[in-house]
Amino acid sequence: MNVYDSARMADVLAPLGYRRVSDADGADMVILNTCHIREKAAEKVYSELGRLRRLKEARQAGGGTMIIAVAGCVAQAEGEEMRRRAPIVDIVVGPQAYHRLPRILADAANHGGAVVTDFPPESKFDHLPEEAAPQGVSAFLTVQEGCDKFCTFCVVPYTRGAEYSRPVAQLADEARRLLDQGAREITLLGQNVNAYHGRDERGREIGLGGLIRRLAAETGVTRLRYTTSHPRDMDDELIAAHGEVPALMPYLHLPVQSGSDRILAAMNRGHRANDYRRLIERLRRARPGIALSSDFIVGYPGETDADFTATLDLAREVGYAQAYSFKYSPRPGTPASEAPGQVDEDVKETRLADLQAVLSAAQASFNRQALDRDIEVLFERPGRRPGQLLGRSPHNQAVHVEAPDGLMGALASVRIRQAKAHSLEGMLTGEPESARACA
Ligand code: 5AD
Ligand code: SF4
Repeated sequence: MNVYDSARMADVLAPLGYRRVSDADGADMVILNTCHIREKAAEKVYSELGRLRRLKEARQAGGGTMIIAVAGCVAQAEGEEMRRRAPIVDIVVGPQAYHRLPRILADAANHGGAVVTDFPPESKFDHLPEEAAPQGVSAFLTVQEGCDKFCTFCVVPYTRGAEYSRPVAQLADEARRLLDQGAREITLLGQNVNAYHGRDERGREIGLGGLIRRLAAETGVTRLRYTTSHPRDMDDELIAAHGEVPALMPYLHLPVQSGSDRILAAMNRGHRANDYRRLIERLRRARPGIALSSDFIVGYPGETDADFTATLDLAREVGYAQAYSFKYSPRPGTPASEAPGQVDEDVKETRLADLQAVLSAAQASFNRQALDRDIEVLFERPGRRPGQLLGRSPHNQAVHVEAPDGLMGALASVRIRQAKAHSLEGMLTGEPESARACA
């Protein structure tokens, strides 16, 4: 979502004459769009600001200026404190207020800085420009933001605010614009994307399953994905969509966090491990072969060896195509950060390594299943080596293929010749579809 937000900030600033550059050196303004989800992510901001201080000072010594803005969830969480700790920061702007950047820039110029971390009553989506720089073959579309779930470890409900779903018509328009600009795959985004409950033109509320059906039917998008989901919000309609909407790719990121009912309850997740297992069964019945992904936290306060074993068991049982796993990171202001039974760092390390061994083995085995098969790949960008393109399989695997540049944006059948830990390699078979850009 930060990638999407960064692109939208650039769109907001384009009418003022700003354009994106690839390097901070020489830029008139630098915006750090930040993440507060774990301590490590938040710390990066201050080390990056140290680097930028030298650039800004060098520029000032040459008579120029460099505006430094911090956006995103660290900005939201730190507010004024950010400018006290890092005086080179001119602007602090939270994730719900960046549509006001032109005014914030003017205020900062007049008052020697600006901090905007309120949650404005209006939705930024009603104020973002229609004009947007093209995102490429695979594009993001934020459909929902914020979260009302209040998992005890998580800062999102505090930094992104309450759940908000964008209206259906606005999303259909934005999806059409993305497709007109060359996108063929759209990933619907939200912190809790399957809690989506937007209104259609007739004022009826529709869920994510309904939105997916509409976007698939009305826009002709080739591929749809969505992330990130909560197990409690996988309703019947969304599960059915996996079996009935061909554009919806057979891949789902469905975080479970832990396999222990005791820990899931302490986390306020609102489901048990077996509820999750049943959900996976239903998804697999709806869409046989669906690839599953997850997030895990190890070392949540009070997690015992037995709790962790339950997590390992669940991870082994599901057989994830890929997954993310993290050491629990206490976040200021969240209930879990003050809970008794904080787990020692070295125990977290060991558990993380054990879990990652299970997850990596599952991913390697999932990738091996593709060997010698023909799969449909959507080419998204140049590959690692000259003459190669990088694409994605329906299961979201990265696929490297020797292919002409003209196939960028096209679907092609690829025979998989090599399965690696995190990617596949293959060769074109048959007659690829011609790229839309060339049509
Ligand atoms: N510590 C570790 N991991 C966390 N996540 C969220 N908050 C924390 C935390 N305090 C992880 C969860 C979530 C993912 C986006 O980040 O697994 O699903
Ligand atoms: Fe955070 Fe996701 Fe839980 Fe919401 S559902 S509080 S975003 S982990």
